[in-house]
Amino acid sequence: MWVICAKLFVFWYYIGYMKKRLLSGIKPSGIMHLGNYFGAIKQFVDLQNDYDSLVFIADLHAITTIQNKEELSKNILNVALDYLACGLDPEKVCLFKQSDVPQVAELTWYFNCITTMPYLERATAYKDALIKEKEVNVGLFDYPILMAADILIYDSNVVPVGQDQKQHVEYARDTAQKFNNIFGQTFIVPEILIMKEVAIVPGIDGRKMSKSYGNTIPLFGTDEEIKKAVMKIVTDSKKTDEPKDPNTCNIFTLHKLFLKDNELKILRDKYTKGSLSYKESKEMLLEEILNLVRPMREKRENYARDLDKVRDILKNGAKKAKIIADEKMNIIRDKVGVKI
Ligand code: TRP
Repeated sequence: MWVICAKLFVFWYYIGYMKKRLLSGIKPSGIMHLGNYFGAIKQFVDLQNDYDSLVFIADLHAITTIQNKEELSKNILNVALDYLACGLDPEKVCLFKQSDVPQVAELTWYFNCITTMPYLERATAYKDALIKEKEVNVGLFDYPILMAADILIYDSNVVPVGQDQKQHVEYARDTAQKFNNIFGQTFIVPEILIMKEVAIVPGIDGRKMSKSYGNTIPLFGTDEEIKKAVMKIVTDSKKTDEPKDPNTCNIFTLHKLFLKDNELKILRDKYTKGSLSYKESKEMLLEEILNLVRPMREKRENYARDLDKVRDILKNGAKKAKIIADEKMNIIRDKVGVKI
């Protein structure tokens, strides 16, 4: 009997060991909204049992735009609270702050030296910044390379991101290949994981939900704030008894994030039959959002009362991440030739 038990144990251990590594990060740049939740965080939470997961707060990336001590440190803690409240389990996921692993900045330098300016000039985020900003800082220009270092230093296999970050992960893949070609096989070329059905969450004006469009529904707002945003969702002017097209309705698209197929079918019928007003549809949506948010809000408040615990979680995460990064940097330094 014990032989079977021992074999089972070895098997489980092996499976655990064989788990692929997942890595992702979020820039601490403001208040979390429904788009962030469904587009990113929910994926990390759903996948946390299946992967050896590392999730971090990209504070070094945030400095490209936030240059204010109070604002940045407040945002970092807020993102940590949001992650934890949304269900990331620090027992399963290594949760840490990017700047606690400074090896990433060292690796960024090595990558900078094998990256050309025209290659970075092709990045869409950079091109957008050129249009919007008077002067683009070097950090913003180099954003994809810092991100490549984030991803590659931990030997990540998969990187779940929203559609808007896809090009950045492609830069990481290119950079891994380039380094491998020059210095010999060193990095895993990671896969991009985009969950299509939730990739784009519409905002209250129908465009992609984004802080920069001012069209968000806050995840941890008060009931009143959430209600205000939901009631402002843009619709056409069809009356209650007029048939409505669910496929072009912003409220309906948001319902899809919450309802099961059979519930959606019932709602779809009400739309096409004209037996539901947009106001009623919004009220239903508000309830769906609040049902999701209420328990998370409670969890968030508990963590917020014990910030030292949150700091400890991040510190422990950084300890684990640093061990992986240190080991990898040793190999990288050797490959580059600075280790003598
Ligand atoms: N750029 C990402 C964002 O804006 C954050 C990020 C930084 C990231 N490094 C990463 C995401 C590495 C995935 C992997 O949200």
